[in-house]
Amino acid sequence: MRSTSLAFLLSAFLCTIGCSDDDGAGETGGAGPTGGTGGAGATSGPGSTTSGSGGAGATSGSGGDAATSTSSTTSGAGGDAATSTSSTTSGTGGSAPAARRVPAASANSLREAGEKANPPILIGAAISGGGLNDNNYKRVAAAEHNYVTAENEMKWDALEPNPGQFSWGAADNIVNWARSNNMKVKGHTLVWHSQLPGWMNSMTGAAQVEQAMRRHIENVMGHFKDRVNHWDVVNEAVLTDSDTGVGNPRMRPTVFFNALGERYLDLAFQIAREQDPTAKLYYNDYSIDARNEKADFVYEMIKGMVERGVPIDGVGLQMHIGPPNNVAGGEDVAYNLRRFADLGLEVLISEMDINRCGNVVSASDQLTYYHDIVEACFVMPECVGITFWGINDGRSWLNTWSTARCNGQSSQSLLFNDQYQKKETYNRVLDALLGR
Ligand code: G3I
Repeated sequence: MRSTSLAFLLSAFLCTIGCSDDDGAGETGGAGPTGGTGGAGATSGPGSTTSGSGGAGATSGSGGDAATSTSSTTSGAGGDAATSTSSTTSGTGGSAPAARRVPAASANSLREAGEKANPPILIGAAISGGGLNDNNYKRVAAAEHNYVTAENEMKWDALEPNPGQFSWGAADNIVNWARSNNMKVKGHTLVWHSQLPGWMNSMTGAAQVEQAMRRHIENVMGHFKDRVNHWDVVNEAVLTDSDTGVGNPRMRPTVFFNALGERYLDLAFQIAREQDPTAKLYYNDYSIDARNEKADFVYEMIKGMVERGVPIDGVGLQMHIGPPNNVAGGEDVAYNLRRFADLGLEVLISEMDINRCGNVVSASDQLTYYHDIVEACFVMPECVGITFWGINDGRSWLNTWSTARCNGQSSQSLLFNDQYQKKETYNRVLDALLGR
């Protein structure tokens, strides 16, 4: 499904007449009442006023938000890929065709392809503290990416091991390394059921949980305020019977949900917005990439938040493809990205890898998925970033996670091999970023 298609040429033409000087990927905000989804459930699982969307557009200078400016093409290292000022094209609901991002003519790295696209798109990787002890890892990570998510070092257990006592060292190392390489950072993750410190198990009652949540969000966002302005505010709030997103979707019974009900999501975003009025605030989840019950449930949950005026800016589709998560093709992903963007939100691919263990995904399917899924995001100006969950196969989290069916073998899930050489998966991703 490679597509240098007529549709693309047409949209590129439309962009040349309509979207090269302005951008309009979804700003968010919003107001409005109503309730959301509900329900309680059991068990656990692994994983994760608006204004119009649409409008491809401009870029920014180095270090800026990549589409906050109205200047024309070129790169902007570390920029936010799509924060709009004025838009030219509405991507939603109207009769005008959706705008499409214009690829660079050429690029020598994924990062360069993202920076030279119009509007730019952030190219990210999950970075581990351990990885930064390896010079080859650091070299590839900085050369190919301009967006960093700490793989574990900014989770609750790492940052607040004791109530009200914060430990910043490992996270600061990653954030400072990213900034010294002109990369943006997405804080991951403020409110999540997993990797919580033990002391949280003894919390009881709504007031105590709310107080702990507020203290954590305020302290963490406050500490990183001038260095991190993208946040996964709530991660993986929805559960299904299977990790593939099928069966009985419901709110996950976490310490937060059990004490506060579904309103904990609204509250978390409101606290985050109070703490930083300009930060990008995201909801992030796994197995909402395919067309399945979980994707539908999360869509309704997010729609309710937007309608209530909850200050959410976007949704990250994690994109862990293959065991134990869902398998999704480019068209499935395009469908889900589009419907979230049509709520006036930014969208991101936030944790992409494609697991080959168990042969659920063949080698050739993996190449097709990498190309087509990246393409599905790339063509949408509202899709502001693509993050891969790691750098090289040897360090993938999948290798040692029992339900990933790797049993210690390589998941072959990423873009670089153990010697940090580019794999064919890399070439297919670069193709998609260059519109090939
Ligand atoms: O740091 C300890 C180490 O001291 C200990 O010796 C070792 C023994 O098991 O464990 C180490 O901690 C591990 C940690 O990764 C750091 O390597 C944990 O056991 C392990 O569970 C943890 O896994 C992380 C997982 O989240 C936890 O849920 C993965 O690295 C990380 O890639 C993964 O990331 C999540 C995203 O945050 C949310 N979306 C899903 C994604 C994949 O599960």
